[in-house]
Amino acid sequence: MVNRLTFPDEVAVYWENGEYIVHNVKVSTWGLFDGEELFIYQTLRTYETVGEATKHLNYDSETISRVIVRALFNRLAFTTAEAAQDSIERARTALNHQPDVPVPNAAYLVMTLRCNLSCTYCYAESGPHVTIQDDLTTAQYKSVLQQVKQLGVRTVIFTGGEPFIRPDIGELIAFAKSLGLRTNAISNGRAITKALVVGQLLGNLDKITISIDSMEPEIHDRNRGHLSHHFAMRALQYFLDTPIVVNVNSTLTNITQTDDYLVLNDFLHDRGVKHKTLFLTEIGRGDVDVQGISSSHRTEIQRGLLKNETDLVNRSPVGTDATLLPLAIRNHCGAGAAEFSVDPKGNVFPCKLLHESEFLAGNLKDSTLQEIWEFSSALRQLRRTTTDTLPNCLPCSFRFICGGSCRAAAYGRTRDIHATLLEECPSLRRQLRHSIWASAKTALAPSPMPVSREDLC
Ligand SMILES: C[S@@+](CC[C@H](N)C(=O)[O-])C[C@H]1O[C@@H](n2cnc3c(N)ncnc32)[C@H](O)[C@@H]1O
Ligand code: SF4
Ligand code: SF4
Repeated sequence: MVNRLTFPDEVAVYWENGEYIVHNVKVSTWGLFDGEELFIYQTLRTYETVGEATKHLNYDSETISRVIVRALFNRLAFTTAEAAQDSIERARTALNHQPDVPVPNAAYLVMTLRCNLSCTYCYAESGPHVTIQDDLTTAQYKSVLQQVKQLGVRTVIFTGGEPFIRPDIGELIAFAKSLGLRTNAISNGRAITKALVVGQLLGNLDKITISIDSMEPEIHDRNRGHLSHHFAMRALQYFLDTPIVVNVNSTLTNITQTDDYLVLNDFLHDRGVKHKTLFLTEIGRGDVDVQGISSSHRTEIQRGLLKNETDLVNRSPVGTDATLLPLAIRNHCGAGAAEFSVDPKGNVFPCKLLHESEFLAGNLKDSTLQEIWEFSSALRQLRRTTTDTLPNCLPCSFRFICGGSCRAAAYGRTRDIHATLLEECPSLRRQLRHSIWASAKTALAPSPMPVSREDLC
């Protein structure tokens, strides 16, 4: 048995589903312990040597060794001070690996601001009333897609407004696919026909996200318009009949009914659909004071969702990931670094939710995407907005997994890009705690590698 161990200087302990999570905060690794194991780990941390700690522990050497092995494996302890320091440096390098000009993962293309619906909360302020005449043409979008590919982007997401009201959408998705891009689209479903799915999207579209707020048509339609539930469900079924990956986005508002929402979640899980819950952002028509859900209501829904996830995790064999995202070390939300957004006029912004003149990076009719990506001061400023610069996030033990949460949501509510929506943190932390637990439960090697996190929709 080793006799001297070095422990990380910042360790947090959480309680989740009857187990203790021990979290090496700066390195973003963790392990699960029961009460006795935690006591042994804490005792080992208290004494200079393992021998000394053992004298104060009433456990056999096999049990103590098991805790040491787990701690070493999960980087919750190190055999030398150099190894401990090295792990921190590697984590810092992974966090700061973003050079001034990183390679983005994803480009959101807002294909039009017109829409066949007029949802009460739409952040894009879209609807049939929008009469924009100068959306980029098919040829211009093809040039944008070529530039997106040249920049090294892996995934392009077609969104809007409603992207499927453009007659050339199938052609543009096929073009993106022919360039070797991964293709996603987000839709309300209304303009999607079976002929379009089978004739143009199959083989070209990798993932579709349909927006469905409720299992109950009446609730969904109150947010999104008459018969919109019927069309969304119809589109969902068209895609479920194909190999295209299907996700559903649901936006929570104060008319969401907890039971109904959990039925929707079950319905989607049963069909292999990933269900993403969106909280109302105060952008465009989104008004948190008027439509946002109360924190107790939100907690009630979240607890129900987490219970469903726990059941899934407990049912899934070790080594598989039920529905959960791999966690990664990050100190940034991704805006302007891992992703960017292009509006229908060719304006480039750091993300689809920050289409504000303050964040305008450039226009593709005047400059190339490469030039905008490299030289825009708006993008550079966003890249430097990390948890190290967010005063309220600095002391938080979740800062390297949360990344400081959505900058656009904070900006929308406060007009301050460095703000933290503290009222949302308890629910964020509950979700993160659960995700850590689930990743430790389902992964063969519980410690996550510092890879970038993909959560695109
Ligand atoms: C702007 S829509 C564009 C794509 C398509 N028209 C649709 O509704 O699916 C993209 C997603 O954002 C969601 N959304 C719109 N406004 C929002 C807001 N204020 N807060 C949170 N989510 C919102 C929509 O429900 C949809 O899932
Ligand atoms: S949320 Fe989507 S469907 Fe609703 S108005 Fe906005 S763009 Fe249209
Ligand atoms: S949980 Fe809250 S305080 Fe912690 S990093 Fe995330 S946004 Fe910041």
